[in-house]
Amino acid sequence: MEIIVPTEENLRRAARVLAEGGLVAFPTETVYGLGGDAWNPRALARIFEAKRRPSFDPLIVHVAGIAALDDVADLGALSRESRTAACALMEEFWPGPLTLILPKRPRVPDLATSGLPTVAVRLPAHPVARTLIELSTGAVAAPSANPFGYLSPTRAEHVASQLGERVDLIVDGGRCPVGVESTVVDVTGPSPRVLRPGGLSLERLRRAVSGIEVLDRTDPAPKAPGQLANHYSPRSDLHLVLPGGLAGVRPSGRAAALVFDASSRNRLGPAAARFADVRALSESGDLVEAAANLFDLLHELDAGGFDEIWAERVPDSGLGAAVNDRLYKASKKT
Ligand code: TXA
Ligand code: MG
Repeated sequence: MEIIVPTEENLRRAARVLAEGGLVAFPTETVYGLGGDAWNPRALARIFEAKRRPSFDPLIVHVAGIAALDDVADLGALSRESRTAACALMEEFWPGPLTLILPKRPRVPDLATSGLPTVAVRLPAHPVARTLIELSTGAVAAPSANPFGYLSPTRAEHVASQLGERVDLIVDGGRCPVGVESTVVDVTGPSPRVLRPGGLSLERLRRAVSGIEVLDRTDPAPKAPGQLANHYSPRSDLHLVLPGGLAGVRPSGRAAALVFDASSRNRLGPAAARFADVRALSESGDLVEAAANLFDLLHELDAGGFDEIWAERVPDSGLGAAVNDRLYKASKKT
């Protein structure tokens, strides 16, 4: 494994590694992706192996433009209403942190979609991701570049320490600005449905398209495995409490607290002394900043070797929904 900076020459080299079936981790605006050529089943198999990811969990295919989108997905197979909604979402939010579930073209390998008739497609905004995809075959399959179930990477160093020699190249593009994964929206059903909250807020989606539904998280047969418990987990035990609930917590070991903002830090009062470290997701209470800091702080706290991490829920609006989703899943151990 080698870490390279994103010069044009280096990106050409990374694209060659992809073309030869290798794995390249690269930055997107959300999190780092573990990329492989979407047309090459061997490369796809290597992604699953490197992540120790179950093969029933399908990948997102990243494209850099509409021509490649047409190679991957068949918009013509959608109903007229769905097609209108899909096009409106693409026009409004691409490039950006939105993944759409669309009917797949037959030539997309089944390994990318876990045999589903649909494919997840995303057109990222990050310039490094876009250039790399353009220099490649045009379609790069990339899950988040972390071992299955563990914290998502927002820096090249996170990828290096988590995946090590299981990846051929890591393109270091600095810290990912959004910090949580893309919002996944399925447009193949009767109305658009959010399968995973993420870097694009529900409020913004609803302003662009009407009738958006949100997946019932108590559904016994989850369609998006991002729903599975014990996802996004640090090694330390993570406990999640309601806003303001940290003041009543009595940790049973060396513990860190993850508060939302400066005012929740103040509300802790003397209880702050029960924690070896108290960190805020955003001192000013900005949910966009909180999302950007989430995995970064969890990685840092995890490296601190605490027995427990106690986190409080943040407000559920805007990107708060994605933050709470990741914290909730990180707190699940089964
Ligand atoms: O921001 C992101 O989306 C990042 C960056 C690298 O682009 N990628 C990412 O990929 O988060 P991954 O593999 O960690 O998450 C993909 C999600 C999973 O929850 C998966 O189940 C869902 O998308 N998914 C993929 N294909 C699907 C399909 N055909 N139907 C329903 N869900 C699908
Ligand atoms: Mg992931």
